[in-house]
Amino acid sequence: MPDADGIKEAKMFHCDIPQETRGFFLKGANALDWGMKNRLARIFNPQTGKTVMLAIDHGYFQGPTTGLERVDINILPLVPYADTLMLTRGILRAVIPPSTSQAIVLRVSGGASILKELSNEDIAVDIEESIRLNVCAMAVQVFIGGEFEKQSIINMTKMVDIGNRYGIPTLAVTAVGKDMARDAKYFRLACRICAELGAHYIKTYYVEKDFETVTSSCPVPIVIAGGKKIPELDALTMAYNAIKEGAAGVDMGRNIFQSDAPIAMIQAVRAVVHDHETPKKAFELYKSLKKSMKCK
Ligand code: R5P
Repeated sequence: MPDADGIKEAKMFHCDIPQETRGFFLKGANALDWGMKNRLARIFNPQTGKTVMLAIDHGYFQGPTTGLERVDINILPLVPYADTLMLTRGILRAVIPPSTSQAIVLRVSGGASILKELSNEDIAVDIEESIRLNVCAMAVQVFIGGEFEKQSIINMTKMVDIGNRYGIPTLAVTAVGKDMARDAKYFRLACRICAELGAHYIKTYYVEKDFETVTSSCPVPIVIAGGKKIPELDALTMAYNAIKEGAAGVDMGRNIFQSDAPIAMIQAVRAVVHDHETPKKAFELYKSLKKSMKCK
Protein backbone atom coordinates (compact mmCIF):
# COMPACT_ATOMS: atom_id res chain seq x y z
CA MET A 1 0.00 0.00 0.00
CA PRO A 2 1.38 3.47 -0.80
CA ASP A 3 2.31 5.63 2.13
CA ALA A 4 -0.67 7.91 2.96
CA ASP A 5 1.55 10.59 4.49
CA GLY A 6 3.08 13.38 2.47
CA ILE A 7 1.04 12.75 -0.73
CA LYS A 8 2.02 15.27 -3.40
CA GLU A 9 -0.92 17.49 -4.19
CA ALA A 10 -2.32 16.67 -7.64
CA LYS A 11 -2.06 19.68 -9.92
CA MET A 12 -1.65 18.35 -13.43
CA PHE A 13 -5.30 18.35 -14.48
CA HIS A 14 -4.69 20.25 -17.73
CA CYS A 15 -8.29 21.50 -17.61
CA ASP A 16 -7.71 23.48 -20.80
CA ILE A 17 -6.78 20.39 -22.86
CA PRO A 18 -9.72 18.16 -23.85
CA GLN A 19 -8.88 14.46 -23.83
CA GLU A 20 -8.28 13.29 -27.36
CA THR A 21 -10.44 10.49 -28.73
CA ARG A 22 -8.45 8.81 -31.42
CA GLY A 23 -9.76 6.62 -34.21
CA PHE A 24 -8.10 3.27 -34.78
CA PHE A 25 -5.76 3.11 -37.74
CA LEU A 26 -7.14 -0.03 -39.38
CA LYS A 27 -9.97 -0.06 -41.88
CA GLY A 28 -13.26 -1.27 -40.41
CA ALA A 29 -11.84 -1.88 -36.94
CA ASN A 30 -12.93 1.22 -35.07
CA ALA A 31 -15.88 -0.41 -33.33
CA LEU A 32 -13.87 -3.34 -31.98
CA ASP A 33 -12.95 -3.77 -28.34
CA TRP A 34 -9.55 -2.88 -26.86
CA GLY A 35 -8.10 -6.39 -26.80
CA MET A 36 -9.10 -7.05 -30.39
CA LYS A 37 -7.54 -3.76 -31.52
CA ASN A 38 -4.43 -4.40 -29.49
CA ARG A 39 -3.96 -7.78 -31.18
CA LEU A 40 -4.53 -6.26 -34.63
CA ALA A 41 -1.98 -3.56 -33.79
CA ARG A 42 0.56 -6.31 -33.18
CA ILE A 43 -0.16 -7.83 -36.60
CA PHE A 44 -0.33 -4.54 -38.52
CA ASN A 45 2.38 -1.99 -37.79
CA PRO A 46 0.55 1.10 -36.46
CA GLN A 47 3.15 3.38 -38.09
CA THR A 48 2.63 2.06 -41.62
CA GLY A 49 -0.74 0.34 -41.27
CA LYS A 50 0.77 -2.67 -43.06
CA THR A 51 2.01 -6.16 -42.25
CA VAL A 52 4.48 -8.70 -43.55
CA MET A 53 3.03 -12.02 -42.46
CA LEU A 54 5.28 -15.00 -43.03
CA ALA A 55 3.00 -17.92 -43.95
CA ILE A 56 4.42 -21.31 -43.01
CA ASP A 57 1.21 -23.24 -42.35
CA HIS A 58 1.26 -25.23 -45.61
CA GLY A 59 2.11 -28.47 -43.80
CA TYR A 60 -1.36 -28.68 -42.29
CA PHE A 61 -2.67 -30.19 -45.52
CA GLN A 62 0.39 -30.85 -47.69
CA GLY A 63 3.05 -32.09 -45.32
CA PRO A 64 6.71 -31.03 -45.53
CA THR A 65 6.54 -28.97 -48.71
CA THR A 66 9.69 -27.54 -50.33
CA GLY A 67 11.32 -25.03 -48.00
CA LEU A 68 9.41 -26.22 -44.95
CA GLU A 69 11.11 -29.59 -44.52
CA ARG A 70 13.01 -28.23 -41.52
CA VAL A 71 11.30 -25.21 -40.00
CA ASP A 72 13.97 -25.03 -37.30
CA ILE A 73 16.75 -24.64 -39.86
CA ASN A 74 15.07 -22.86 -42.78
CA ILE A 75 12.48 -20.64 -41.13
CA LEU A 76 13.77 -19.54 -37.72
CA PRO A 77 16.39 -17.22 -39.29
CA LEU A 78 13.56 -15.40 -41.11
CA VAL A 79 11.45 -14.77 -38.03
CA PRO A 80 13.14 -11.49 -36.94
CA TYR A 81 12.16 -9.92 -40.29
CA ALA A 82 8.47 -10.87 -40.14
CA ASP A 83 5.77 -8.85 -38.38
CA THR A 84 3.66 -11.94 -37.96
CA LEU A 85 4.01 -15.70 -38.23
CA MET A 86 1.11 -17.67 -39.65
CA LEU A 87 1.43 -21.30 -38.63
CA THR A 88 -0.06 -24.32 -36.92
CA ARG A 89 0.01 -25.06 -33.21
CA GLY A 90 2.16 -28.13 -33.88
CA ILE A 91 5.01 -26.14 -35.40
CA LEU A 92 4.52 -23.30 -32.92
CA ARG A 93 4.94 -25.56 -29.89
CA ALA A 94 7.60 -27.81 -31.35
CA VAL A 95 9.88 -25.31 -33.05
CA ILE A 96 9.19 -21.63 -32.38
CA PRO A 97 10.88 -20.25 -29.26
CA PRO A 98 8.35 -18.80 -26.78
CA SER A 99 10.59 -15.74 -26.50
CA THR A 100 9.50 -14.81 -30.05
CA SER A 101 7.84 -11.40 -29.96
CA GLN A 102 6.28 -11.50 -33.44
CA ALA A 103 2.49 -11.73 -33.51
CA ILE A 104 1.19 -15.25 -34.01
CA VAL A 105 -1.68 -16.01 -36.37
CA LEU A 106 -2.79 -19.55 -35.70
CA ARG A 107 -4.25 -21.82 -38.36
CA VAL A 108 -7.38 -23.20 -36.66
CA SER A 109 -9.16 -24.93 -39.55
CA GLY A 110 -8.06 -28.30 -40.83
CA GLY A 111 -9.05 -31.89 -41.37
CA ALA A 112 -8.41 -32.27 -45.09
CA SER A 113 -5.30 -33.33 -47.00
CA ILE A 114 -4.06 -33.02 -50.57
CA LEU A 115 -5.15 -36.63 -51.01
CA LYS A 116 -8.83 -35.75 -50.62
CA GLU A 117 -11.34 -32.93 -51.04
CA LEU A 118 -9.63 -29.85 -49.60
CA SER A 119 -12.79 -27.93 -48.77
CA ASN A 120 -13.90 -30.63 -46.32
CA GLU A 121 -12.46 -28.79 -43.31
CA ASP A 122 -13.63 -28.36 -39.77
CA ILE A 123 -12.47 -26.31 -36.82
CA ALA A 124 -9.39 -28.20 -35.65
CA VAL A 125 -8.19 -26.08 -32.71
CA ASP A 126 -10.12 -25.22 -29.58
CA ILE A 127 -10.40 -21.55 -28.60
CA GLU A 128 -8.64 -22.39 -25.33
CA GLU A 129 -5.56 -23.27 -27.32
CA SER A 130 -5.56 -19.86 -29.01
CA ILE A 131 -5.84 -18.17 -25.64
CA ARG A 132 -3.18 -20.43 -24.09
CA LEU A 133 -0.81 -19.78 -26.99
CA ASN A 134 -1.38 -16.02 -26.79
CA VAL A 135 -2.25 -15.70 -30.46
CA CYS A 136 -3.15 -12.43 -32.17
CA ALA A 137 -5.57 -13.94 -34.70
CA MET A 138 -7.08 -17.24 -35.80
CA ALA A 139 -7.03 -18.24 -39.48
CA VAL A 140 -9.89 -20.17 -41.05
CA GLN A 141 -10.01 -21.32 -44.68
CA VAL A 142 -13.18 -20.38 -46.54
CA PHE A 143 -14.03 -22.17 -49.78
CA ILE A 144 -16.53 -19.97 -51.63
CA GLY A 145 -17.89 -22.05 -54.49
CA GLY A 146 -16.21 -25.17 -53.12
CA GLU A 147 -17.88 -28.47 -52.43
CA PHE A 148 -18.08 -27.80 -48.69
CA GLU A 149 -18.71 -24.07 -49.05
CA LYS A 150 -21.35 -23.80 -46.33
CA GLN A 151 -19.38 -25.89 -43.83
CA SER A 152 -16.29 -23.72 -44.34
CA ILE A 153 -18.29 -20.50 -43.97
CA ILE A 154 -19.85 -21.76 -40.76
CA ASN A 155 -16.39 -22.73 -39.50
CA MET A 156 -15.44 -19.09 -39.95
CA THR A 157 -18.56 -17.61 -38.37
CA LYS A 158 -18.16 -19.89 -35.36
CA MET A 159 -14.61 -18.64 -34.84
CA VAL A 160 -15.77 -15.03 -35.27
CA ASP A 161 -18.37 -15.58 -32.54
CA ILE A 162 -15.94 -17.27 -30.16
CA GLY A 163 -13.12 -14.87 -31.01
CA ASN A 164 -15.34 -11.86 -30.36
CA ARG A 165 -16.03 -13.28 -26.91
CA TYR A 166 -12.33 -13.36 -26.07
CA GLY A 167 -11.00 -10.47 -28.14
CA ILE A 168 -9.19 -12.57 -30.74
CA PRO A 169 -9.61 -11.54 -34.40
CA THR A 170 -10.45 -14.03 -37.14
CA LEU A 171 -8.58 -14.04 -40.44
CA ALA A 172 -10.66 -15.48 -43.28
CA VAL A 173 -8.46 -17.17 -45.85
CA THR A 174 -10.13 -17.32 -49.25
CA ALA A 175 -9.20 -20.59 -50.91
CA VAL A 176 -8.98 -21.08 -54.62
CA GLY A 177 -9.93 -24.58 -55.70
CA LYS A 178 -9.02 -26.11 -59.02
CA ASP A 179 -12.34 -25.19 -60.59
CA MET A 180 -12.65 -21.71 -59.15
CA ALA A 181 -11.98 -18.65 -61.26
CA ARG A 182 -9.12 -16.47 -60.08
CA ASP A 183 -10.45 -13.08 -61.06
CA ALA A 184 -11.57 -9.87 -59.38
CA LYS A 185 -15.23 -10.84 -59.67
CA TYR A 186 -14.63 -14.04 -57.70
CA PHE A 187 -12.45 -12.38 -55.06
CA ARG A 188 -14.92 -9.50 -54.61
CA LEU A 189 -17.57 -12.11 -53.89
CA ALA A 190 -15.39 -14.21 -51.58
CA CYS A 191 -13.90 -11.30 -49.60
CA ARG A 192 -17.20 -9.51 -49.20
CA ILE A 193 -18.97 -12.63 -47.96
CA CYS A 194 -16.22 -13.18 -45.36
CA ALA A 195 -16.34 -9.55 -44.23
CA GLU A 196 -20.13 -9.42 -44.08
CA LEU A 197 -20.12 -12.51 -41.89
CA GLY A 198 -17.69 -10.97 -39.45
CA ALA A 199 -14.08 -11.73 -40.46
CA HIS A 200 -11.75 -9.07 -39.05
CA TYR A 201 -9.36 -9.26 -41.97
CA ILE A 202 -9.05 -11.32 -45.08
CA LYS A 203 -6.35 -13.07 -47.01
CA THR A 204 -6.87 -13.34 -50.71
CA TYR A 205 -4.89 -13.51 -53.94
CA TYR A 206 -3.71 -10.65 -56.09
CA VAL A 207 -5.16 -10.34 -59.57
CA GLU A 208 -3.71 -7.96 -62.13
CA LYS A 209 -7.05 -6.72 -63.40
CA ASP A 210 -9.30 -4.69 -61.12
CA PHE A 211 -7.70 -5.73 -57.80
CA GLU A 212 -8.58 -2.27 -56.42
CA THR A 213 -12.27 -3.21 -56.74
CA VAL A 214 -11.61 -6.17 -54.43
CA THR A 215 -9.98 -3.99 -51.77
CA SER A 216 -12.40 -1.08 -52.10
CA SER A 217 -15.52 -3.27 -51.81
CA CYS A 218 -14.17 -5.09 -48.78
CA PRO A 219 -14.83 -3.16 -45.53
CA VAL A 220 -11.94 -4.75 -43.63
CA PRO A 221 -8.20 -5.03 -44.43
CA ILE A 222 -7.00 -7.41 -47.10
CA VAL A 223 -3.60 -9.10 -47.21
CA ILE A 224 -2.43 -11.05 -50.23
CA ALA A 225 -1.02 -14.56 -50.32
CA GLY A 226 2.08 -14.98 -52.42
CA GLY A 227 0.94 -18.08 -54.26
CA LYS A 228 3.27 -20.40 -56.12
CA LYS A 229 6.95 -19.47 -56.45
CA ILE A 230 7.66 -16.93 -59.17
CA PRO A 231 10.88 -14.97 -59.90
CA GLU A 232 11.82 -12.59 -57.08
CA LEU A 233 11.31 -9.41 -59.13
CA ASP A 234 7.83 -10.60 -60.14
CA ALA A 235 6.90 -11.38 -56.53
CA LEU A 236 8.10 -7.94 -55.41
CA THR A 237 6.16 -6.32 -58.25
CA MET A 238 3.03 -8.22 -57.22
CA ALA A 239 3.42 -7.06 -53.60
CA TYR A 240 4.05 -3.47 -54.73
CA ASN A 241 0.97 -3.40 -56.97
CA ALA A 242 -1.20 -5.01 -54.31
CA ILE A 243 -0.21 -2.37 -51.74
CA LYS A 244 -0.69 0.42 -54.27
CA GLU A 245 -4.15 -0.95 -55.02
CA GLY A 246 -5.28 -1.07 -51.41
CA ALA A 247 -3.88 -4.18 -49.73
CA ALA A 248 -2.78 -3.81 -46.12
CA GLY A 249 0.11 -6.23 -46.47
CA VAL A 250 1.18 -9.66 -47.56
CA ASP A 251 0.83 -13.12 -46.08
CA MET A 252 3.64 -14.62 -48.11
CA GLY A 253 5.08 -18.09 -47.90
CA ARG A 254 6.65 -19.84 -50.89
CA ASN A 255 7.90 -16.68 -52.56
CA ILE A 256 9.97 -16.09 -49.44
CA PHE A 257 10.99 -19.50 -48.11
CA GLN A 258 11.50 -21.04 -51.58
CA SER A 259 13.61 -18.09 -52.73
CA ASP A 260 17.32 -18.65 -53.45
CA ALA A 261 17.99 -16.24 -50.58
CA PRO A 262 15.00 -16.20 -48.19
CA ILE A 263 16.55 -13.77 -45.69
CA ALA A 264 17.29 -11.29 -48.46
CA MET A 265 13.85 -11.79 -49.99
CA ILE A 266 11.88 -11.14 -46.82
CA GLN A 267 13.81 -7.90 -46.30
CA ALA A 268 13.06 -6.83 -49.86
CA VAL A 269 9.37 -7.61 -49.30
CA ARG A 270 9.47 -5.49 -46.13
CA ALA A 271 10.95 -2.60 -48.09
CA VAL A 272 8.04 -2.73 -50.54
CA VAL A 273 5.32 -3.17 -47.93
CA HIS A 274 6.49 -0.76 -45.22
CA ASP A 275 8.76 1.69 -47.06
CA HIS A 276 6.93 1.97 -50.42
CA GLU A 277 10.13 0.92 -52.17
CA THR A 278 9.71 0.31 -55.91
CA PRO A 279 10.03 -3.30 -57.10
CA LYS A 280 13.22 -2.38 -58.97
CA LYS A 281 14.88 -0.88 -55.88
CA ALA A 282 13.66 -3.70 -53.66
CA PHE A 283 15.10 -6.20 -56.13
CA GLU A 284 18.43 -4.37 -56.01
CA LEU A 285 18.28 -4.66 -52.23
CA TYR A 286 17.53 -8.38 -52.57
CA LYS A 287 20.51 -8.89 -54.85
CA SER A 288 22.94 -6.95 -52.66
CA LEU A 289 21.80 -8.72 -49.48
CA LYS A 290 22.06 -12.07 -51.26
CA LYS A 291 25.60 -11.21 -52.39
CA SER A 292 26.70 -10.05 -48.96
CA MET A 293 25.35 -13.25 -47.40
CA LYS A 294 27.31 -15.38 -49.85
CA CYS A 295 30.51 -13.52 -48.90
CA LYS A 296 30.12 -14.41 -45.22
C1 R5P B 1 -1.98 -22.39 -47.48
O1 R5P B 1 -1.31 -23.33 -47.14
C2 R5P B 1 -1.99 -21.20 -46.71
O2 R5P B 1 -3.16 -20.49 -46.65
C3 R5P B 1 -0.82 -20.29 -47.00
O3 R5P B 1 -0.62 -19.62 -45.82
C4 R5P B 1 -1.02 -19.31 -48.13
O4 R5P B 1 -1.30 -19.93 -49.34
C5 R5P B 1 0.13 -18.33 -48.26
O5 R5P B 1 1.26 -18.95 -48.66
P1 R5P B 1 1.83 -18.75 -50.13
O6 R5P B 1 2.37 -17.36 -50.19
O7 R5P B 1 2.90 -19.79 -50.24
O8 R5P B 1 0.71 -18.93 -51.09
